Amino acid sequence: MFSFTTDPAQPKSQLYAELRSAALALTDGETDAVANMANLAALMWQFLPELNWAGFYRTINGELVLGPFCGKPACIRIPYGSGVCGTAAAQGETQMVADVHAFPGHIACDAESRSELVVPVIREGKVLAVIDLDSPRVSRFDEDDQAGVEALAAAIGERI
Ligand code: SME
Repeated sequence: MFSFTTDPAQPKSQLYAELRSAALALTDGETDAVANMANLAALMWQFLPELNWAGFYRTINGELVLGPFCGKPACIRIPYGSGVCGTAAAQGETQMVADVHAFPGHIACDAESRSELVVPVIREGKVLAVIDLDSPRVSRFDEDDQAGVEALAAAIGERI
């Protein structure tokens, strides 16, 4: 069993530094990408408050395919360019959506989701996967969350 304790009330930069360090510790020496993504999804779920979904979509044969996650069952395949995840993958850039109801083409996997942060994991110039975080609160994510998840994506790119 792995036990990480964290204070969700601390400054976000500190919270994400702790998340990153737990992520690197938990994946250290493990080469199985699925095992690592499963533990990383569980860590994000534990560390980050006000989420209803946290996990990965992987690029397989040019489309996004559902990977390990915490939350309700989700859509399995997302074409590049579709929805928030597919847009992040196609552009290779983070998508931070304050209100998913206002995002054209948003794919509603869980009707509770109101805001979303999707960060590509890039290795050797290619989008290997995206990290997808959903929240039931409008405007749950800010620039500190974006910076924190982007740093996490950069740190774990070699391990998934
Ligand atoms: N809402 C996402 C789909 C994935 S689920 O949120 C888990 C999108 O529009 O890409």
